[in-house]
Amino acid sequence: MRELFLREGLTVRGTNDGETCVHAVERHFDRNGGDMLAAIRAAYADLEGDYAFVITHHDDHRLFAIKKGSGLVAGLGGGFTCISSDLPSILPLTRRIVRIRDGEIAVLAPDGVGLYSVHDGSPIQREEEHYDGPIEVAEKGGYPHFMLKEIHEEPTVAGELLHLLNNSKYVDSFLKALDTPDSRPVYFVGCGTSYHACLLGAYYWNQIARRTAIALLAPQFIEQCGQSVGPEDVAVFVSQSGETKDVLNAVKAMRERGGRVLGVLNVLGSTLAHASDVYLPLACGYEISVPATKTFVNQAVLFLYLAYRLAGRDTGELAPLPDLLARTLDVTDATARDVAAYLHHWDDLYYLGYGVTHPIALEGALKLKEITYAHCEGIFSSEFKHGPLSAVRQGYPVLFITAPGDEAMMINHVNEVTTRGGRAIAIAAEHPALRANVHDYLVIPEANRFLSPILLTLPAQLISYHMSVARGIDPDHPRNLSKTLTVD
Ligand code: AGP
Repeated sequence: MRELFLREGLTVRGTNDGETCVHAVERHFDRNGGDMLAAIRAAYADLEGDYAFVITHHDDHRLFAIKKGSGLVAGLGGGFTCISSDLPSILPLTRRIVRIRDGEIAVLAPDGVGLYSVHDGSPIQREEEHYDGPIEVAEKGGYPHFMLKEIHEEPTVAGELLHLLNNSKYVDSFLKALDTPDSRPVYFVGCGTSYHACLLGAYYWNQIARRTAIALLAPQFIEQCGQSVGPEDVAVFVSQSGETKDVLNAVKAMRERGGRVLGVLNVLGSTLAHASDVYLPLACGYEISVPATKTFVNQAVLFLYLAYRLAGRDTGELAPLPDLLARTLDVTDATARDVAAYLHHWDDLYYLGYGVTHPIALEGALKLKEITYAHCEGIFSSEFKHGPLSAVRQGYPVLFITAPGDEAMMINHVNEVTTRGGRAIAIAAEHPALRANVHDYLVIPEANRFLSPILLTLPAQLISYHMSVARGIDPDHPRNLSKTLTVD
């Protein structure tokens, strides 16, 4: 559409979708005799995808709003009206609301909100609602906890991130900044969940793009590479908050050696954003729950996307991901709840993964520790026989996370546990032989080897969530932890 605008002589300043919406309306404004309603209706036919936006003309005292797919709700106050994509932001101002539906244009004046059909411009009658619920319930979108809400946002935010990456000029700058003279290894640096995303990213880059990436914990980066990196080196620092002190210390160490600093972050305007030569956003919206969930998914999506770009592979192959994520939540939730009920009685657990699923096992174990207070260790499955196997006894649960292609070997690792009386819980796509060898099976949808690890993360998150709730713990606020760690 931007090319069309330029051809028509409009001034196009940026590349973001918001500006595109403005021009989409602007080009119809004069043709419709300066009638905003008519111009928006014409633009609606041109715009594709999901959006919600508010627009006005400098000579008009009204605001016009329209949405497709995305949320939009108007508030009616005493002598004012307001509109937002987010109900909780309105509730401190007024409890009188009007929900805007797809195909409706809302016109806001200080004394009221009018609704019009986008199809024929006719007025629509809608009674205002009075929202009586607590703000907290609205904030949680009807879910009992932010964690569950944020898990259920994963399909949407993954789709939004892919859309953003496909259209962002910063991806090219980011890829350019990754160029090193002799294709030397690149470092992926993070803490906690973000570190696990770095580990997964390193597998992706090796297996898809044949580029060696070394994933390191931020303090480990300082200790292990802080004296040897130089101006030719590049490191990608990954942090949801962009404020984790351990990560910022590592950034400082990299800067002191003259190396390039790339950032991957969720909070725009964070210290990491300012400290990076180039950064890419995770585009997840706020993540309120202390356990990171949707930001991990998007960190993984971002690394996968970049690996595809580096390999010159068609990123269109990633397009089914949002739908696969939504289906994964649907088909695994009930079994996750049952498995959580069994695990609830154990305080010492193992998550096993192999290759690309090893980071998912680590992440599954971290999430379980974080919000259930049970001890849980993530292990490369072939290592289990080298020591931890001695923990297995009658009924002892072990979780196995398997990507397509690794099932035969994982069955060997399963049998080491089951022959000693252990209970094997598999998370994998359907595989009859694996099914025949385990006690519980969380089945994810069929997907390629690289999309699968991202899907496999979701049942692991759900297991930890349900176990946390079964234990009477608030998963959003586990004891002793905070969302952002600004201390050494
Ligand atoms: C994850 O569930 C944790 N809350 C924690 O490990 C977190 O990922 C870590 O503190 C890093 O945070 P960051 O991504 O904001 O840097």
